[in-house]
Amino acid sequence: MNQPTATTDRPATGYAFDNATDHSHDQHRCLAAAYDPVTLPRLAATGLRSGWDCLEVGAGGGSVAQWLARRVAPHGTVLATDVDPRHIASAPGLTVRAHDLERDPLPENAFDLVVARLVLQHLPGRRAVLAKLVRALRPGGVLQIDEFDTSYEPPLLAPDEESAELYSAFLRAKSDALRAAGGDPQWGRRVPSALREAGLVGIDTQPYVEVRHAGSASLQLQLHHTHHLRDRLVAQGMTPAQLERVRELMTDPSFRAASSILYSTQGRRPEGRDPR
Ligand SMILES: C[S@@+](CC[C@H](N)C(=O)[O-])C[C@H]1O[C@@H](n2cnc3c(N)ncnc32)[C@H](O)[C@@H]1O
Repeated sequence: MNQPTATTDRPATGYAFDNATDHSHDQHRCLAAAYDPVTLPRLAATGLRSGWDCLEVGAGGGSVAQWLARRVAPHGTVLATDVDPRHIASAPGLTVRAHDLERDPLPENAFDLVVARLVLQHLPGRRAVLAKLVRALRPGGVLQIDEFDTSYEPPLLAPDEESAELYSAFLRAKSDALRAAGGDPQWGRRVPSALREAGLVGIDTQPYVEVRHAGSASLQLQLHHTHHLRDRLVAQGMTPAQLERVRELMTDPSFRAASSILYSTQGRRPEGRDPR
């Protein structure tokens, strides 16, 4: 299998988070705990089996790629890439590469399955990246994109109106910070039509929503964001004191909120013709 070529002089991307600080391990732990239960059954339902060649881009902590490597063993391969792949532990059948989706080429006609979770929403060039992912598929191959739409994630049970408004203000500031870095926090709702426009067929999309509470990985991820994105949240007008209060709210055992929607969307490259 051809491997992507990694660029050497790599300026910071527009990505609002990073894999280089003490926060990153916590971020990837929360992501895996909250969303592997959604992503993995969807991948399994594609017919994934021994012998498939798979690609995961922006693989983060590597939990999805490692699961894929176990599923396609002993005859298949998994290539896991990330602009900063330091958190992806090696495993049998798993190749890890540094790769910038916006700048570096990918092998074409090479994979039975390509997966990207919570990556393209951060990339200003997400439509061009999507076309690159489609070209990486073999005819008949499946692309799965799992992404948030954060436009509906209201507090459901807070101690008072002021706390509920503070939580909403934090979420608004976070979405604004992601947009300021070139992200699209509503990208999840746009993925099905983007896959169709990219030439894929058999588009299937499933929304996933849950109740966030102090013990849930998805609320722990929000709590994590108050630390990891602290400076960007302050730049959007949140004060350090407000961030401290929203952290206290998110550890209150009685607090409840609706999660954003995670859309898991799949499409298949048609047999026998090039994607657009
Ligand atoms: C929010 S994390 C999601 C990680 C993993 N996909 C998951 O869902 O658990 C986004 C990942 O995309 C990576 N990333 C950001 N910009 C990238 C780029 N231009 N090319 C490749 N990966 C990138 C980050 O380093 C990070 O690991």
